[in-house]
Amino acid sequence: MTNNAYTIIDHTYDVVVIGAGGAGLRATFGMAEKGLKTACLTKVFPTRSHTVAAQGGVSASLGNMGEDDWRWHMYDTVKGSDWLGDQDAIEYMCREAAPAIIELEHYGVPFSRTAEGKIYQRAFGGMTTRFGEGQAQRTCAAADRTGHAILHTLYQQSLKHQAEFYIEYFAIDLLMDDDGTCRGVLAWCLDDGTLHRFLGHQVVLATGGYGRTYFSCTSAHTCTGDGNAMALRAGIPCQDMEFVQFHPTGIYGSGCLITEGSRGEGGYLTNSEGERFMERYAPSAKDLASRDVVSRAMTLEIREGRGVGAEGDHIHLHLEHLDADLVADRLPGIAETARIFAGVDVTRQPIPVIPTCHYNMGGVPTNFHGEAVTLKDGDADAVIPGLMAIGEAACVSVHGANRLGSNSLLDLVVFGRAAANRAAETVTSGAAHKPLPSSASEPALARFDKFRHAKGGTSTAALRLDMQRLMQTNCAVFRTGEVLREGVEKMAGLWEQRADIGIADRSLVWNSDLMETLELDNLLIQAVVNMSCAANREESRGAHAREDFPDRDDEKWMKHSVVWCGEDGKVRIDYRPVHMHTLTDEVEVFPPKARVY
Ligand code: FUM
Repeated sequence: MTNNAYTIIDHTYDVVVIGAGGAGLRATFGMAEKGLKTACLTKVFPTRSHTVAAQGGVSASLGNMGEDDWRWHMYDTVKGSDWLGDQDAIEYMCREAAPAIIELEHYGVPFSRTAEGKIYQRAFGGMTTRFGEGQAQRTCAAADRTGHAILHTLYQQSLKHQAEFYIEYFAIDLLMDDDGTCRGVLAWCLDDGTLHRFLGHQVVLATGGYGRTYFSCTSAHTCTGDGNAMALRAGIPCQDMEFVQFHPTGIYGSGCLITEGSRGEGGYLTNSEGERFMERYAPSAKDLASRDVVSRAMTLEIREGRGVGAEGDHIHLHLEHLDADLVADRLPGIAETARIFAGVDVTRQPIPVIPTCHYNMGGVPTNFHGEAVTLKDGDADAVIPGLMAIGEAACVSVHGANRLGSNSLLDLVVFGRAAANRAAETVTSGAAHKPLPSSASEPALARFDKFRHAKGGTSTAALRLDMQRLMQTNCAVFRTGEVLREGVEKMAGLWEQRADIGIADRSLVWNSDLMETLELDNLLIQAVVNMSCAANREESRGAHAREDFPDRDDEKWMKHSVVWCGEDGKVRIDYRPVHMHTLTDEVEVFPPKARVY
């Protein structure tokens, strides 16, 4: 197809997966394995996807290190979510966890081992036995490089099943038919500058989170939430975007992750008085309370003048008391990271840490099959034909208002697999594609062309920095209505400024100026909806801590925020009920109660 300025190369597939992290690769090889002609588009080489950075492990109630039960895991996840998670989806994830991990083991993931040769499992925050009574050891680990191990295995499986990869292809926008069906995606090949139109009977967004809206985050520079932004531009809502997780232990200054597994192995936090302050905030779980609780406690310690360092603005994480062999065996990666990024020998000195933006609980709303859903004609779970979302790009919602550590890798493999199973049920291999109206490609092309020729006076880097600083100050661990409203207003100003962006390079081949501008455009729309949803939710729940509304309000707010955003930057917010039902009679719904650790 030729469109004035651009020649577009057409491709047809049964399914098109966008993103090659853990979720994308699990779906890709699962779909290919089931005989579907599967394309996977990725803007970075698959094994450089951000899943590679996941450290501590993947949860599953295998019971290798003590008693365990998937129902206890389900309870912990519901409680961790502060009762915003959908209980049918949580049941599905926790029940499917053990078979999904055994499958990974058989595919070749090199898990660490116990003396008897079983998969090694460590303690993680909020993971308990007997519905909160004891500390579970549920997180299956490959030292502190679990994401790396999983990602490489999934890529090998995808190659084995002949999935077709389009590497260093940047997805520009979804191609939507007039009836609201998603038909494909327009993508840009960074290497040779060509544009490509991929048609699929299912398009799967596996594009990860949007951590880079913040100034300090553990996320890779690639984490720009491209799928969420494409969905919003296509008139598809995102859900629960106000819920952003701050990981307690990002290295002070660089934001690099120090795994929660380090506290699972016995590490602990202290303030400037040398006090193990978590004992005051979470008497039972202490340093292994859920992340939102630990991050708030650290922030309060710093605010109240008990932070460490010359500026009193961070906290110490201690591993010096741990056996050096244990560190070398179980935590080699973070020992190296701490040495490089904090100049610290963890066997002798504490690591300077600070709560750092880590994970987005929100994303494209889906059912537990991975199908994207929206509110339509009174149906709160109306499936959007042709579109799926999985992993951090999706909001299933298994994490609700706060994700438990090590439930993320689990989410990727369980729902990547679920999406593959669903696609095998709903897509007929080789089925013809009906012609796509030309109007479907035009908005994507026009947007691409607009940024390619942008001649304004605002630099992409400057606008991105302003957005990141605004998110960091006005949408942080603690929030108030006043600060959030100011954030909404200032973000609207930044949204206006995108009309004044200018880029110097007009080429189509490896134009990183253009790619960063497209990524910034993706980040900005998510920053707008994130800030607006946070201003709107007048309660505290999970990671959303409002100082002016310090309590959870189940009567008014036990519901998912669903948000749309127009080209004018105006948002519309509606609500979906939380699923308070289970899929089987093997477990009952966990009703809301006070959340203490
Ligand atoms: O702390 C960590 O290792 C991170 C794990 C996670 O976010 O699930």
